[in-house]
Amino acid sequence: MNTILTTILIITGITTTLALLLTLANTYIADYGERKIRINKDKEFIVEGGNTLLSSLIENEIYLPSACGGKGSCGYCKCAINEGGGPVLPTELSYLTEDDMKNNVRLSCQVKVKADMEIQIAEDLLNVKQFEAIVEKTEDLTSTIKLLRLKITDGQEIEFKAGQYVQLLAPPYPGSPDEVFRAYSIASSPNNKGYIDLIIGYVPDGLLTTYVHKHLSEGDEILFNGPFGDFYLQDCEEDAILVAVGTGMAPIRSILFEMLNKKIDRNTIFFFGAKTPEDLFLLDEMTMFEKELPRFKFVPTLSRAPEESQWKGEEGRVTDAMMKFLEKKEGREAYLCGSAPMIDSTVKTLVERAFADNKIYYDKFD
Ligand SMILES: Cc1cc2nc3c(=O)[nH]c(=O)nc-3n(C[C@H](O)[C@H](O)[C@H](O)COP(=O)(O)OP(=O)(O)OC[C@H]3O[C@@H](n4cnc5c(N)ncnc54)[C@H](O)[C@@H]3O)c2cc1C
Ligand code: FES
Repeated sequence: MNTILTTILIITGITTTLALLLTLANTYIADYGERKIRINKDKEFIVEGGNTLLSSLIENEIYLPSACGGKGSCGYCKCAINEGGGPVLPTELSYLTEDDMKNNVRLSCQVKVKADMEIQIAEDLLNVKQFEAIVEKTEDLTSTIKLLRLKITDGQEIEFKAGQYVQLLAPPYPGSPDEVFRAYSIASSPNNKGYIDLIIGYVPDGLLTTYVHKHLSEGDEILFNGPFGDFYLQDCEEDAILVAVGTGMAPIRSILFEMLNKKIDRNTIFFFGAKTPEDLFLLDEMTMFEKELPRFKFVPTLSRAPEESQWKGEEGRVTDAMMKFLEKKEGREAYLCGSAPMIDSTVKTLVERAFADNKIYYDKFD
């Protein structure tokens, strides 16, 4: 028994040391020199070899969606590398489909620039911009959720579709030695091109949310890039179901503003989930939307309403309220936002209620 344990420990020790040596060698010894990256057989630039393709593109003001900030855990930063990408890495495999493999699609945050590269990027991503802004307003919506208003100060305007997101950058701060960026859905109206609102929940020990909740103040400067994403309000007249939990409210709020701007008159129900009455927010705005949008209904539902709260609304999960309010009927759209488990269970409920798969749009926040 002891011999087996010792052997395992020795093998683990050797592999860990080798991995460490390889990383150190890659960082300090390998010199890939200057490398050329050519995009869409058109634009090209020279970069310092050895960095990830994602960071080399960012240095040259090309912003690919990268919701996890380059950690290799979102699978958003794909682009085709037709030459110079080297073999597919184990860290990419779970995010690449068969089609991706056939078309040389790779995760740009995992691939390092070690040779000249020929890459292909969707044209609309070449129009994504970085914005300089100041924090014009911060508001505590609940004890763990803040609304930030970021006013653009570099003279640019932001054009986006209701439902899309931006990537917010936090500079190094005590406890977080590197710049980090994460995705946040725009919560404001697309008509407001001089600022964006974001609704950001606190994640204990989360790098970006700790920066926002514990370090960022009104008047501070901040950078973001965008807009990104294919989750946005479609041009359609069918009934719409909106579903969000917690900070998932953000893109739905933008969608509601857009419905107001464009005087969109659709049967629309918004199921919003929270735990207790203290976790509900923006209720006055929801009342305003109910007044201004003639066929809009807001259905807040609480999963842990204490008896003494005398809560008279819906109880249980959002899916319980959906089962109660939605009859089986075809020809409707659904827009969902929140955690992966919430989205998965909501999609299941919608399919049971005869929603077509291709009419269910969502953004998973994790
Ligand atoms: C398209 C898109 C839009 C998004 N929009 C919003 C938005 O509008 N508002 C918003 O608040 N967030 C939004 N997110 C989530 C956001 O991008 C970050 O993932 C989140 O804020 C955590 O970042 P962090 O740097 O603080 O945590 P990290 O440092 O990245 O994570 C720290 C730890 O917390 C875990 N973790 C990460 N997120 C959560 C979570 N939500 N709950 C519990 N544990 C978590 C991680 O697995 C990790 O172990 C969105 C994500 C995507 C993909
Ligand atoms: S940035 Fe998230 S996987 Fe590459």
